[in-house]
Amino acid sequence: MQDLEAIVQEAIALFAGIEDADLLEQAKARYLGRSGALRDAEKSLARLAPAERPVFGSRLNAAKQRLETALREQRDRIQSRRLEARLREESLDVTLPGRGSGTGGLHPVTRTCERIERLFRSMGFAVADGPEIETDYYTFTALNQPENHPARSMHDTFYLAGGAHLLRTHTSPIQIRYMEAHRPPIKTIAPGRVYRVDSDATHSPMFHQIEGLWVDESVNFADLKGVLIDFMKRFFESDELQVRFRPSFFPFTEPSAEIDMSFGGSWLEMGGAGMVHPHVLRNVGIDSEKFQGFAFGLGLDRLTMLRYGVNDLRLFFENDLRFLKQFN
Ligand code: PHE
Repeated sequence: MQDLEAIVQEAIALFAGIEDADLLEQAKARYLGRSGALRDAEKSLARLAPAERPVFGSRLNAAKQRLETALREQRDRIQSRRLEARLREESLDVTLPGRGSGTGGLHPVTRTCERIERLFRSMGFAVADGPEIETDYYTFTALNQPENHPARSMHDTFYLAGGAHLLRTHTSPIQIRYMEAHRPPIKTIAPGRVYRVDSDATHSPMFHQIEGLWVDESVNFADLKGVLIDFMKRFFESDELQVRFRPSFFPFTEPSAEIDMSFGGSWLEMGGAGMVHPHVLRNVGIDSEKFQGFAFGLGLDRLTMLRYGVNDLRLFFENDLRFLKQFN
């Protein structure tokens, strides 16, 4: 029979070197299990002389207890090491600097748009909206734009496959949608993106317009001039600003005018305007004998360029942060 003390020393040394919980349980079986080393010693008890048994028995119990204690301590050690490893793995360094959430800013055209909305709201205009993908009816037909009008040509307009829809070429279809949904008095503006097959330093295939519409019983051309001149002066913060109305033609207004603004000694075209054509009012079921009004369409990008002194329209749509950051 192996010496008890030798067994205990061996087992304690073995347990202390085991890092795995399952392996530790296996090692326990080798000493405390049914055919373990201590069980063997226990069996030898029967062969001892009766007088020696109590002494050996208590030594045996003490040995068992030391092994149990060693086991418990090793189990605890394994568990706390596992916990430490997990904590290390899942740790967050809350002192690390963030990935940088730079503050965003508004696009200069958006700024212009918001400014224009504020100015018109102060004159009692509502702000309306409409779809960028339009039908031929709202873009042309309802606006008294005849079948053979050049704007309807494939060269000028983006048609969607199938030909039933197109990207609106101006914000004027919003006039029709708004008048279908509201009865006079109507006083609204409608900013938005528009699309034409056009591209150079002053033309982009996508650009922005702002539509205006005021229909009531006696809204006249003098009101149109008053509203637009007042708006332009307030927008550019200059009482000296000159605005010119040049006779022109649009199928949906009669009479029609081009709106020009004085700039650096010459005239710059800012948009179109006129008195809403009676056919347009008839198309939306408004009595043109009782109601009349004006409409206008201004180039939002052009207004932004002049206000900020930008000379190339394309800069607005290239998304170069070095350019865009200057406005914020
Ligand atoms: N829709 C016209 C254009 O895009 C502008 C306009 C609007 C003219 C309203 C008159 C009245 O050219």
